[in-house]
Amino acid sequence: MHISEIDTPALLVDLDIMERNLGRAAEYARAHDLRLRPHTKTHKSPHLARRQLEAGAAGLTVAKVGEAEVMLAAEPPDLLVHYPVLGRAKLERLMEVARRTRVTVALDSLFAARQLSDAARAAQVTAGVLAEVDVGLGRTGVSPGAELVQLARGILRLPDLDFEGITFYPGHIKDAEETGRQASAELGRLIHSMLNDLRTAGIPVNIVSGGSTPTLFHSHELPGLTEIRPGTYVFNDLNTVGSGGCTLGDCAASILVTIVSTARPLQIVVDGGSKTFSSDRLAGSPEATWGRVVEAPEAVFHKMNEEHGYIDVSRTNREFSAGDRLRIIPNHICVAVNLHETVYGVRGDRVEECWKVEGRGKLQ
Ligand SMILES: Cc1ncc(COP(=O)(O)O)c(C=O)c1O
Repeated sequence: MHISEIDTPALLVDLDIMERNLGRAAEYARAHDLRLRPHTKTHKSPHLARRQLEAGAAGLTVAKVGEAEVMLAAEPPDLLVHYPVLGRAKLERLMEVARRTRVTVALDSLFAARQLSDAARAAQVTAGVLAEVDVGLGRTGVSPGAELVQLARGILRLPDLDFEGITFYPGHIKDAEETGRQASAELGRLIHSMLNDLRTAGIPVNIVSGGSTPTLFHSHELPGLTEIRPGTYVFNDLNTVGSGGCTLGDCAASILVTIVSTARPLQIVVDGGSKTFSSDRLAGSPEATWGRVVEAPEAVFHKMNEEHGYIDVSRTNREFSAGDRLRIIPNHICVAVNLHETVYGVRGDRVEECWKVEGRGKLQ
């Protein structure tokens, strides 16, 4: 199928770029002896999860039990649910997953650990546990120091759980510049002191899990880190470019749109708005823009309604006509993927493969 036959709006993935992104991360992880357990929140597709595993990933990460269920189709050797799983309904479903593959849960309370232990016992399975620590994002995770030691100790005492180690998400480190480098150095010191605390308390730590896309290729600079969980790296997006984590040439995903109106002067309207791109702003930008037009980078995608994208073309010399098609790289690809049913994998002008976003909308 030729790309011109795809109806719009449609999510395209440049397979050459995606394969290069997958290969580079897998190679980096291998070279630095880091376990790669990619977060599947970006592609939400067992098809791509399988490719990550074939490229060398040791397991997969998800946030939701529904995503864990979907990712079983990729036949992962293990699944990390990086989210506290609470309540009987979710835990019963998770234990069904745990009957089919090794499941580890990242959690930050003994309340969650006890519920997991009870569910594991009832299902006659053993669940892995990582104690989550907050290293600066201020989201989930106990504080490093006494709180972490207390959590780890409590988990170790619970039956039918395997305490595997600690985990954190360095989402507060957004660049590889001076600020990012300082934050990474601080994180390195923190990991060192946490491992010291746990060692002193006699608590064995096999896994130290971290790693996001902006910090991906600096992970080896963190002494003690054993595992990385990048997600966005598979496609990248404008936020990753802004973080210095990749170049525009590393952005594999774009949204193909059609110009539906040129009626207003110096403006074009395309057939994708917030329902197609999501309303996630460009991180760190004072101005609201919603994506980069590949064919006309000077154009400014400055406003959206649900089904309409408003693009200011006053700074471009190009002529635009209704019916023309454009590719737009979104700000935040993970949330954009969640809005699409199908992904078109393209090489040049050819559509080589299509896959369903089977993990979209899995809120529970
Ligand atoms: C717990 C956790 N680990 C890993 C990731 C992946 O990070 P990134 O999207 O920067 O690749 C995320 C992203 O939200 C996350 O929440």
